[in-house]
Amino acid sequence: MFERPRGTNDWTPEDMVKRRYVESAFVGVAESFGFREIQTPLFESLELFAAKSGPGVVEELYAFKDKGNRDVALRPEFTASIVRFYVNELRSLPKPIKVYCYGPAFRYEEPQKGRYREFEQLDAEVIGGATLASDAEVIALAIGTMRAIGLKQVRARIGHIGMLRAFLPFGPADQAKVLHALDKKNVPMLEDELRRLTHEELTDPLKRIIGLHGDAAILDEAQKLLGGKGGEAFGYLRQLREQLAHYGISPSEYEFDMGVVRGLDYYTGMVFELDSPNLGAEKQVGGGGAYTLAEVFGGEPVAQTGFALGVDRLVMAAEAEGVFGPAPALDAYVVPIGEAVRGKAVEILTTIRAAGLRADIDLVGRGPSKNLDYANTSRARYAVLVGEKELKKDAVGLRDLKAGTQREVPVRSLVEALTKA
Ligand code: HAM
Repeated sequence: MFERPRGTNDWTPEDMVKRRYVESAFVGVAESFGFREIQTPLFESLELFAAKSGPGVVEELYAFKDKGNRDVALRPEFTASIVRFYVNELRSLPKPIKVYCYGPAFRYEEPQKGRYREFEQLDAEVIGGATLASDAEVIALAIGTMRAIGLKQVRARIGHIGMLRAFLPFGPADQAKVLHALDKKNVPMLEDELRRLTHEELTDPLKRIIGLHGDAAILDEAQKLLGGKGGEAFGYLRQLREQLAHYGISPSEYEFDMGVVRGLDYYTGMVFELDSPNLGAEKQVGGGGAYTLAEVFGGEPVAQTGFALGVDRLVMAAEAEGVFGPAPALDAYVVPIGEAVRGKAVEILTTIRAAGLRADIDLVGRGPSKNLDYANTSRARYAVLVGEKELKKDAVGLRDLKAGTQREVPVRSLVEALTKA
């Protein structure tokens, strides 16, 4: 009767197991890196996102007026909110501020596989650390999360937006338009912008620079193409490579890519993206880099860097790489053999649950054999058969549903038998 809004999803219990797995892999690595969880609102004042996110994001905002006639927008990402929180409340804390959060974000995009209007991000930011050390830390966290999820094919591409900005002799607003065209890999749009800015001679070198990717050798090539502009960026990327090696990140896990432009306007330094080769058009599972936002929101200049990963795409990448096995949904399914033993069966069920195991019982009144079918399809590890005959001996039948074997177990050692197995 009612259609789900376009670009949104319903997630089944099986989907949620995978989504929680990805979230907890990220949370585990982030906590091990000393990041701490925060939360910010789902909606903010419209200006917060309009201030510096750039045309790509502003066009896609879910913006509306609330009942007090205030312009608000659903968050399209976390970074602007986190920096607002930092400038207003966290900046007196000892630096660096290392925080993470995760949850839904909203962009009015054209939906397709892996691109939704409501999607979920995992986000981490470092504010107020030294630039190089912080950039290396966030890349290590992003790659560490890929490893923890079990993704072996995802690669990072690392570039430097400062290098590109140094090459563009325009003010920030015009730079944003050219960078937007580069990010969309839209050559006609790029040509139009450069014609408008009467800098058509930049078209070819720009196309060649953003086409450069590979190992550290391409940094020399790019440096030559830029003709001396943006020189610090290349030295910086070489240093970053050394830092990453100390983290145990091998050059096979990333490449340098001068074409990493990013779709958001606030980046000013190192930028990076992570791709899964298995996802087709929407293969980017994450992205981030060093940015300047605190200053825009009234704070003092401070190094800021971070990234966000897309949960929806990480789950798809993990599915494609065969990371998920068929996980048992229940430890035990309790089957009362006859209504007379139902009370006792519930007591046994309650003991199993109290031990922290996942246990369920028939709520429909099925017969024993139908109940065993149900236990099998609901992927329980064990069926606990509660019958009058066994109860007289203070025992139950314990059926291993995978092996198809059954034995009698005293009620008092049932939890132990379920845990040991
Ligand atoms: P972003 O590249 O816009 O960066 O988004 C990060 C990730 O979110 C993408 O790589 C993608 O996996 C996922 N994502 C974005 N849009 C969608 C969508 N419509 N459907 C599904 N997944 C999507 C940021 O948002 C920055 N705030 C990252 C950052 C943090 N930079 C510095 N700190």
